[in-house]
Amino acid sequence: MADMKAILTVDGIDEPLELPVYKGTLGQNVVDVRSLASKNLFTYDPGFVSTAACESKITFIDGAKGILLHRGYPIDQLAEHSDYLETCFLLLHGELPTAEEKETFVSTIKNHTMVHEQLNHFFNGFRRDAHPMAIMCGVVGALSAFYHDSMDISNPEHRLISAHRLIAKIPTLAAMVYKYSIGQPFMYPRNDLSYSENFLHMMFNTPCEEKKVSPILAKAMDRIFLLHADHEQNASTSTVRMAGSTGANPFACIASGIAALWGPAHGGANEAVLNMLEEIGDESNIDAFVAKAKDKEDPFRLMGFGHRVYKNFDPRAKVMKATCDEVLAELGMENDPLLKIALKLEKIATEDEYFIKRGLYPNVDFYSGIILKAIGIPSEMFTVIFATGRTPGWIAHWNEMISSDYRIARPRQLYTGSPKRDYPTK
Ligand code: CMC
Repeated sequence: MADMKAILTVDGIDEPLELPVYKGTLGQNVVDVRSLASKNLFTYDPGFVSTAACESKITFIDGAKGILLHRGYPIDQLAEHSDYLETCFLLLHGELPTAEEKETFVSTIKNHTMVHEQLNHFFNGFRRDAHPMAIMCGVVGALSAFYHDSMDISNPEHRLISAHRLIAKIPTLAAMVYKYSIGQPFMYPRNDLSYSENFLHMMFNTPCEEKKVSPILAKAMDRIFLLHADHEQNASTSTVRMAGSTGANPFACIASGIAALWGPAHGGANEAVLNMLEEIGDESNIDAFVAKAKDKEDPFRLMGFGHRVYKNFDPRAKVMKATCDEVLAELGMENDPLLKIALKLEKIATEDEYFIKRGLYPNVDFYSGIILKAIGIPSEMFTVIFATGRTPGWIAHWNEMISSDYRIARPRQLYTGSPKRDYPTK
């Protein structure tokens, strides 16, 4: 039912077109353009800057005000009072769990942490120096080959089991990817540990030596996962929805999300931040890099700055910065040279007219890269960590779509190629 209407007049169409306009709970009103196709018209919006591709109840972002809400709860409150698995439950089910529901959820996830032993063999097919995201795309997609028992996407129970499996197994696969790259044996998950402790255990312990995971680092890891848990209709989530709209299985859909996340304009930015800081190398080189970023002839951009939606500040970056300070203090790394470059860069860029005018502020990836490096995670793994954290968001969106009255996503185009011509026959 429309809340308002928009009137569109188009040259060549006699009658003005009446389009329904809907109001959401929060945010922009949307003009329903679906009837335009019957008038032989399409809308044109490359990059989906003005397009609401779906209706959703999961996450709300107000980019101008720096607001991010999951199921209505502000991200800073979740980061302070909740934890990653509780936030996963919230994203999936719409409400915070009761104490009993949370206990059941946590224990269900723990019961799914192992991967099928045969999956271990997949790794041998990859070179040791393969990029971790290349392996992740492959092994997550390969999960589809193991769970035929619960892949009827029209069955809500099956969808929930797949959600649990993905949230539980992706950190196990992520840690396996790392262990494979350094030639160490895979570590089995330990269900007596929390989600984040277990992840750090699988990453850093070996069968010869099991060290206790630092609670501060485990908390920082949990925060990193939580701050990445969902972000509305970003490129990877939209990819998951698009793949899902064809009826593809959830493991294949999440693998497609991982592929989309890999790019440096999206999840690959955290790795790119670290590479950039290393390339800058010394505080004396910062001005030259800032000048390069401002030079329109140069494709270089300051990685970890700017966001399609946040034009004021990224609320996740605020929490991430505080976590960054905690972790560096815990590890006694306040004087780390790379961190010094990062902080100087942050100061220079945030005071520079070019960046202020365009609303380019440090985003979540700017600080997460620094924390992950301090924890001892190599930069090639950063986007894998992002993918691990984003998994519940992807599944929640996929599930929301499959539970709705959805259609296959099939965008159209403005064709500017050759008109019809005949094939030369001589
Ligand atoms: N460094 C220098 N200039 C920039 C940057 C940057 N990082 N980002 C945007 N600009 C300029 C851009 O050149 C353009 O200038 P002008 O108006 O003079 O042509 C203006 O700012 C607007 O940029 P845009 O490319 O139209 O903005 P967008 O919304 O299409 O792109 C972005 C958003 C995040 C892809 C972009 O800001 C960027 O490439 N940032 C660096 C990569 C990065 O940190 N990505 C992580 C995003 S947060 C994590 C996630 O959600 O995945």
